[in-house]
Amino acid sequence: MPSHALTLTQIFAMEPKKAAASITIMTELVLPNDTNLFGNLMGGRLMYWMDIAAALSAQKHSNAPVVTASVDNISFENSIKLGNVVHIEAKVTRAFTTSMEIHIKVWGEDLAQQYRYKSNEAYYTFVALDPHGKPKAVPQLTVGNEEEKKLFDGALRRRQLRLILGGKMKPDDAAELKALFVKD
Ligand SMILES: CC(C)(COP(=O)(O)OP(=O)(O)OC[C@H]1O[C@@H](n2cnc3c(N)ncnc32)[C@H](O)[C@@H]1OP(=O)(O)O)[C@@H](O)C(=O)NCCC(=O)NCCS
Repeated sequence: MPSHALTLTQIFAMEPKKAAASITIMTELVLPNDTNLFGNLMGGRLMYWMDIAAALSAQKHSNAPVVTASVDNISFENSIKLGNVVHIEAKVTRAFTTSMEIHIKVWGEDLAQQYRYKSNEAYYTFVALDPHGKPKAVPQLTVGNEEEKKLFDGALRRRQLRLILGGKMKPDDAAELKALFVKD
């Protein structure tokens, strides 16, 4: 076999994959060492768990090691109390060339009082790397339900906005974003 030929494993690895196949669910318990002076979960600890859940989701999709390229803004809507449970759900919304956008939803749960409450949601971007540490192509994503389609459609605009903010794209090149504001 010529050295540049792809193996069957490599060919199947680039087949499009379903968004649902990337779902990653993480459950944690807020312990005293995780809290701030008010007895609530520290934001930094939560972002650490969110980063791990998102990385696992991106790795499920790409079957490759990944690095965090960026994190969009996170608004903490409700604090999570000491002794409550943290539920984190991560799913790939769209795959580009070597990068993937991951949507994360976080809830708190009070098991004694039996109620759940939303904490926050966020978008992370991960890049898959090859064995030399260089960005590596990832499979495309196929979407099924309405929520997945909506997230997929919005991903292009969010990508352009974060690349502009990260200094990686000129505003003039952000065609999707411009179409929202500039009429011909
Ligand atoms: C992320 C990283 C791999 C990108 O490498 P690069 O040399 O800029 O590569 P490229 O310009 O070819 O970009 C590769 C992909 O990353 C994306 N990317 C680069 N910077 C980005 C950013 N700030 N936000 C979102 N995506 C970004 C590009 O859009 C591109 O995606 P695409 O292939 O799907 O179009 C590189 O900057 C890196 O290793 N950063 C450190 C990552 C890290 O250590 N994270 C942990 C926190 S310390």
